[in-house]
Amino acid sequence: MPSLIDTLLDRIRAREARVGVIGLGYVGLPLAVEFARAGYSVTGFDVDAQKAAQINAGKSYIPDVPDADLSEVVKAGKLRATTDMHALGEMDAIDICVPTPLRKTKDPDLSYVVLAVEAVAATIKPGQLIILESTTYPGTTDEVVQPMLEEKGLEADVDFFLAFSPERVDPGNLRFTTKNIPKIVGGVGPKSTEAASLLYGASVQTVVPVSSTRVAEMVKLLENTFRAVNIGLVNEIALMCHKMDIGVWEVIDAAKTKPFGFMPFYPGPGLGGHCIPIDPFYLSWKARQNGFECRFIELAGHINASMPHYVVERVGDALNSVRKAINGSRVHLVGVAYKRDVNDMRESPALDVLELLTKRGAVLSYTDPWVPELQHGGHAMKSVDLAGALAAKPDCAIICTDHSSFDYETLIASGTLIVDTRNALKGREAETIFRL
Ligand SMILES: NC(=O)c1ccc[n+]([C@@H]2O[C@H](COP(=O)([O-])OP(=O)(O)OC[C@H]3O[C@@H](n4cnc5c(N)ncnc54)[C@H](O)[C@@H]3O)[C@@H](O)[C@H]2O)c1
Repeated sequence: MPSLIDTLLDRIRAREARVGVIGLGYVGLPLAVEFARAGYSVTGFDVDAQKAAQINAGKSYIPDVPDADLSEVVKAGKLRATTDMHALGEMDAIDICVPTPLRKTKDPDLSYVVLAVEAVAATIKPGQLIILESTTYPGTTDEVVQPMLEEKGLEADVDFFLAFSPERVDPGNLRFTTKNIPKIVGGVGPKSTEAASLLYGASVQTVVPVSSTRVAEMVKLLENTFRAVNIGLVNEIALMCHKMDIGVWEVIDAAKTKPFGFMPFYPGPGLGGHCIPIDPFYLSWKARQNGFECRFIELAGHINASMPHYVVERVGDALNSVRKAINGSRVHLVGVAYKRDVNDMRESPALDVLELLTKRGAVLSYTDPWVPELQHGGHAMKSVDLAGALAAKPDCAIICTDHSSFDYETLIASGTLIVDTRNALKGREAETIFRL
């Protein structure tokens, strides 16, 4: 009789393996579609019945997944979505892509992972491959997930297979997608690494196996800490350049002509998204458990968190130049999503800017074609069309997000004071433009 691992590997090679993806968000849905396009029969599991219904109707709610790609695999019977977790027991491989936020105290909130793993553990079968993709601290897979899955007496890397593979997707990036971003894979043992690598190898171009789940977990946190710290550095340089009356954007553009040893990062209104503002704190929390203080992470965190305050200071400078105060001024935010050409509002610094300006008495409005509505101060705000907003002559506009569809010429021509936090108006000079 063939061993459990040989049977699993054969089923993966023959595209007969049934693949389950738990959590159909920015990470899980593109991944489920890639597995389906690779020929696997994929079941997506989510607690959100509306998402499951939309997927089954071939309608995507993730900008990186076009309706056409989704409906093609749904119509072909290769992808279906459900809220029924009992069907997890029918899967050969299960990928967990649920959220890993921070608690208010900046401690990791693993509750979504724990719930998903409980559902997997309830129906676990010998020979199953389980992969955690959610970003988390080193040790989550072997300290938290493995004991939960072994509770019924099955042993990891023997009776079932367990790996961690960090998701590196960059929403809105048209050049690098789930398909062509190399995939790091680390199993709790060699069989687990082999099985997970084989599965990903069928749907992504490059797989990079590493020696353990902890290495794979740490890779992701190194990558995101690298970004958080470098953004913190360049934000500090921006604050410094302002004091010295030097244009930071020109400095960065010139510095990046160096063909080696320099990589450009850009200042901005603060960190946003589900990864960079959060992941480094997963690492510093775990390091602290081991008696180690991550000084770079804490320092970068302070500087990055101060940026919305600096934006408000620049709004004050702009209004001051025409003898106005923030209190009572009408301030219009141009772009509120956390970055260009995405609809994601998670941790968006625009929310901090809104809050700080509200506290100072400004009257606020916003334009964002990607975010028709947002919650602020307990009530809903609706996006207004930019031309209409400018016709109402706001006292100041803040470019918080540099969406490519914005008509910057009309914005400048309106004569409105503009605080440009993204250098969206690069090369344009006017007394009305205030940069970071
Ligand atoms: N968004 C990104 O750019 C990105 C990039 C790399 C890594 N990540 C990581 O990937 C993970 C998922 O992030 P995301 O952006 O896809 O989140 P998301 O919020 O877009 O999607 C998560 C999905 O999981 C579902 N869910 C929550 N609990 C569940 C449960 N117990 N069972 C089934 N479904 C459940 C939610 O309904 C939601 O649809 C996080 O750990 C995140 O840090 C995100």
